[in-house]
Amino acid sequence: MTGPQTDQRTLDTHELEDRVKRMYEEVALEPEREFHFETGRPLAERLGYPASDLDRIPAAAIDSFAGVGYFLGLADLQSGESVLDLGSGSGTDSFLAAVAVAPDGRVVGVDMTTAQLQKATRLAAEASLSNVEFVDAYIEEPPVEDGTFDCVISNGVINLSPDKAAVFAAAARALRGGGRLAIADIVSETQLPEGVTCDASLWAACIGGAMQRDGYRAAIEQAGFAIEAWRTNEEYRFVSERADNATTKYGVTSISVLARRIG
Ligand SMILES: C[S@@+](CC[C@H](N)C(=O)[O-])C[C@H]1O[C@@H](n2cnc3c(N)ncnc32)[C@H](O)[C@@H]1O
Repeated sequence: MTGPQTDQRTLDTHELEDRVKRMYEEVALEPEREFHFETGRPLAERLGYPASDLDRIPAAAIDSFAGVGYFLGLADLQSGESVLDLGSGSGTDSFLAAVAVAPDGRVVGVDMTTAQLQKATRLAAEASLSNVEFVDAYIEEPPVEDGTFDCVISNGVINLSPDKAAVFAAAARALRGGGRLAIADIVSETQLPEGVTCDASLWAACIGGAMQRDGYRAAIEQAGFAIEAWRTNEEYRFVSERADNATTKYGVTSISVLARRIG
């Protein structure tokens, strides 16, 4: 992971990476376990994923779904398009994108957690989804050619990065001019205090790394995007008491955003 950007004077980014990997390894391998957040198909349906779309992709991917909002409606993917999924997890959004862009299109999912990559890769092969591949890399530095994607998607991941500016810059680089960034993520109403931002376990649970929403908007715009849609996903909620307390106190919420690369 690249260096820190937001307020994390004592956040140990190596510890954070380790915790994030351990947590999402469990999400891949033991999705039935309890986490600070919900997972699986009931969550996806509540967030607005159409059941008929979910029926078309591997059920085991959806078991490990740990997204925070629905944004594929905003992405409006077309047949033949190329899509980059930052933090693809076990592959739910990548598989849905692969179906939407059809065999002429392509999807590249990037993730740093081996168990997630292995699961997504296995499921793609089993389902004969040959237009999607999963790559072991950081979302701050996806190993893709500049200007080659029509759409960058990401669900519940950018909050986990200590360098959100690097992630938005990487998304802008990957996109062609006029390409779309369509994401769901976690932001906060007020700046989180250090007690929360320096807690690697709350980061890994998608809370500690939540950026204040105006700063988040500015970070997207500074990377060269014009924001076209921004909505709050009231349907998303955290499940543990600790997580719920932080969300209530600091207004931590899920958002879906559509932005277009200028130029
Ligand atoms: C909350 S899960 C979401 C996964 C998937 N988007 C979904 O909706 O199910 C976060 C994922 O992002 C990955 N991740 C977090 N930070 C990352 C980083 N800096 N680089 C690459 N992957 C990262 C984790 O390994 C994990 O699979």
